[in-house]
Amino acid sequence: MKRHRLPPGPSGYPIIGNFPLGARDPLKLFTEWSRQYGDIFYYRAFTIRVFFLNHPDLIESVLVSRTGDFIKGRGLQANRRLFGNGLLTSEGDFWRRQRRLCQPSFHRDRVEAYGGVMVEFAERMLAGWRDGEIRDLYREMSQLTLEIVAKVLFGAEAGGMIKDARRAIGPIMEFNTRGWSLMPFLRYLPTPLNLRYWLAVRRLERIVQAILHEHKGAEGGEDLLSALRQARDENGNGMSERQLRDEVMTLLLAGHETTALALCWTFYLLACNPMVEGRIREETQRVLGARLPQASDLARLPYAGGVVKESLRLYPPAYAIARVAARDLSVGGFCVPKGSSLVMSQWVTHRDPRYFENPEAFIPERWTDEFSKRLPSFAYFPFGGGPRVCIGASFAMVEAALLLVTILKKFHFELMPSQTISPVPAITLHPGDELKVILHKHQPGNAAPG
Ligand code: HEM
Repeated sequence: MKRHRLPPGPSGYPIIGNFPLGARDPLKLFTEWSRQYGDIFYYRAFTIRVFFLNHPDLIESVLVSRTGDFIKGRGLQANRRLFGNGLLTSEGDFWRRQRRLCQPSFHRDRVEAYGGVMVEFAERMLAGWRDGEIRDLYREMSQLTLEIVAKVLFGAEAGGMIKDARRAIGPIMEFNTRGWSLMPFLRYLPTPLNLRYWLAVRRLERIVQAILHEHKGAEGGEDLLSALRQARDENGNGMSERQLRDEVMTLLLAGHETTALALCWTFYLLACNPMVEGRIREETQRVLGARLPQASDLARLPYAGGVVKESLRLYPPAYAIARVAARDLSVGGFCVPKGSSLVMSQWVTHRDPRYFENPEAFIPERWTDEFSKRLPSFAYFPFGGGPRVCIGASFAMVEAALLLVTILKKFHFELMPSQTISPVPAITLHPGDELKVILHKHQPGNAAPG
């Protein structure tokens, strides 16, 4: 047993140790270290000990088999001001109860029923687009997915809230870039970065208040907010306004930003791979003809599904998951002291040549049933896994595929040539500030892009 010995890893500077999140390209650095040091490596960032896990079995042991040994990671804890004690950040019995309350709104049949709203909102967006226009795709996709999640989960019309939401997301991403938020001593100082973050949280709180207020007039409905409002604990008490705020804030953010990014990265990959886009169009034309898609069509659109899976492999919006050891324990034969961070990165594992041939290439065709069956469970985990697996995983897969097909029926995107797109790891994986595209109206009957 290799107890009391640390895993291999990069040597660090005195006091600082290593601070990879501050590096010019943290994702590249993590990938290099993983290839160099193997299934588990170690580094220290100031006082924080980090164990980085690169083997599916180790990832599974943390996310699935030994969940009681860990709590959520420091990155999420640093955003308590934003998420409060919502589903993403809460722990223990309280989390279990909240998860049970939310779960019915994410059952497969409910999600399929949301499909109509998803396509309708996409059509509304497309009606405002013109051939030859330049648009910021990130902005368009965020707006669309925000409107959808507000409507289906809370019965709210989010159109008027978009501007405030847009202005808030930038500072929140900035706060979570380069690891500043992980340093408790920096988090509470009134620095310009923190002030912008605090203001952004206030903006989002105003949106959540508006949703809660609007919803009060429509109580007794079947949406998620009604379920949360009707819930009573063993003493007959309902949920406090503060807790409702935390749940709505969490679902509003987790439920739109990630899917918007998944779509942005998918369209980016399609713009670079026109043959793939042509194949989606062929499949869509064959299965749907001129009509719009419904969730029940998705089983007959496997190529479009493979494109979404492959995009989530190469550009996973949640590019890493972290946990903190709740006690001294052993992982992979190494002693992990209480308080250490354990990091599992989708970015790194999804590009591991042991599981994905030609890992850097965009190959949707690889996602055959046989390949999926052969793949170790945690070699591919865009939605995490175990009890804390993404509650919106089916929601996101249905939404991404439906919006992809609906949009491609009408438009093709050309990337603005002057941009350099490189992924920025903040809370989620961003394409930088903007993703500008030129819109080209698609002529029906023409399977090739353009
Ligand atoms: C492509 C889109 C999405 C991706 C990549 C994604 C990814 C993830 C991941 C990796 C986790 C686990 C985090 C952890 O274990 O620490 C998670 C949790 C969560 N996600 Fe998603 N997500 C997506 C879409 C959604 C949607 C559409 C919703 C809601 C409508 C949602 C709501 C949540 C919530 C509430 C949690 C916390 C669940 C819990 O701890 O019980 N996500 N997501």
